[in-house]
Amino acid sequence: MARQKSRFVCQNCAAVTAQWAGRCESCGEWNTIFEEAAQSGIGAGPKSATAGGRPIALTTLAGATDDAARIATGIAELDRVTGGGFVQGSAVLVGGDPGIGKSTLLLQAAAAMGKMGKNAIYISGEEAIAQVRLRAQRLGVMDAPVALGAETNVETILATLQAADPPHLVVLDSIQTLWTDRVESAPGTVSQVRTSAQAMTRFAKKSGATVVLVGHVTKDGQIAGPRVVEHMVDAVLYFEGDGSHQYRILRAVKNRYGATDEIGVFEMAADGLREVSNPSALFLNQRDAGATGSAVFAGMEGTRPVLVEIQALVSPSPLGTPRRAVVGWDTNRLSMVLAVLETHCGVRIAANDIYLNVAGGLRITEPAADLAVAAALVSSLVDVALPADGVYFGEISLSGGIRPVAHGPARLREAAKLGFATAMTAGMTAGMGAAEGGAAISVRELNSLGDLVAQVAAAKGAAVQN
Ligand code: TYD
Ligand code: MG
Repeated sequence: MARQKSRFVCQNCAAVTAQWAGRCESCGEWNTIFEEAAQSGIGAGPKSATAGGRPIALTTLAGATDDAARIATGIAELDRVTGGGFVQGSAVLVGGDPGIGKSTLLLQAAAAMGKMGKNAIYISGEEAIAQVRLRAQRLGVMDAPVALGAETNVETILATLQAADPPHLVVLDSIQTLWTDRVESAPGTVSQVRTSAQAMTRFAKKSGATVVLVGHVTKDGQIAGPRVVEHMVDAVLYFEGDGSHQYRILRAVKNRYGATDEIGVFEMAADGLREVSNPSALFLNQRDAGATGSAVFAGMEGTRPVLVEIQALVSPSPLGTPRRAVVGWDTNRLSMVLAVLETHCGVRIAANDIYLNVAGGLRITEPAADLAVAAALVSSLVDVALPADGVYFGEISLSGGIRPVAHGPARLREAAKLGFATAMTAGMTAGMGAAEGGAAISVRELNSLGDLVAQVAAAKGAAVQN
């Protein structure tokens, strides 16, 4: 009999070595290498490349397609992120920090689907039945027809699912607690997570149910296990937010059946997650309109305009190398805006400590935020507040010009809806931009960043020192 071979797998990066080592050669982590039987898990295929294989009929690109059937949960913010509802036969990974509200969101989604007459199954591997019931009570969904189970073994779960009526939705909370008999390592290790996820993904494809896997994210932002599961599933949603704020953002980072730039905004309340259909109002509600260093950016998240406050604090630095602290925006982009201000607008700012914050914990990736950032910086530097009813959007070019950005009209409409009167931007027809419902907003065309600086300086009543 052939000797059972074993191999050593790093639990952090999934690198495989033939020998145990204290430190993984490939990712540099310590104590992450564990022994696994080579015969199990991925790569344990037949010895000969074609042994046991059966040819399939290859086909053409053109031909009949069946539109992915979706089931909307009725939770609009969730449906927006999935692209219109859960696709039947797909596997979805929902990742996020512990305690962010993943279990809450998915129990609410399962309850919503149950109430619509769909067969929803919720399997908890982390909490006992009583705990899940308590949560359901708190959420006010005890009466929803959701089939509940507490189990962690994949084979048992699959047997249970096969014995039940064909489900429309199966929630597995969480993937890190699942384990299968087919792999010998402990639950939570790469091969367990991977093999379990694979089995559940296969179940989704075969049964036509939507399988949602919940995954905890480790401190460095990886789904523990590590990211192997991301490649297997059809959609990856991240649930983000910070503990000190009530709201949470659901973001799609991968979606085989829809766009990935949509976000869903929720607010964590005593009775669960509430949808926030007007995120701008939420992000602006604690704004101190008369403060210096604050500018409102008319941004876009996917197809939805979102207004958000950008806060800057510029203060003289006691250090040789001034501090730059940025939350919610790109540090390199900040350096660029600072360099343009220095070089083309004669603003002496680089020697200061600079703190930049996107209020509310939102993360902005759009270059369109450049102008709002520059406005906040200049406002803080010269210590004069920007007009409280103004919004800013536009990309700054290295030559100091302002480039127009996409979705101008949508941004203007949102700003007008929220009562803003002026938009500082470029490339829009100057004058009045009409908005739905009669509200109007006037557009102040800026030709260059210098125009903006001059505007702020004029407000101060004195020119910015050169
Ligand atoms: P939970 O869904 O258990 O998070 P996860 O599954 O991502 O670990 O959410 C836990 C947090 O949410 C917990 O700190 C309490 C809070 N919470 C509320 O504020 N209101 C509620 O109705 C519920 C159910 C939870
Ligand atoms: Mg949980």
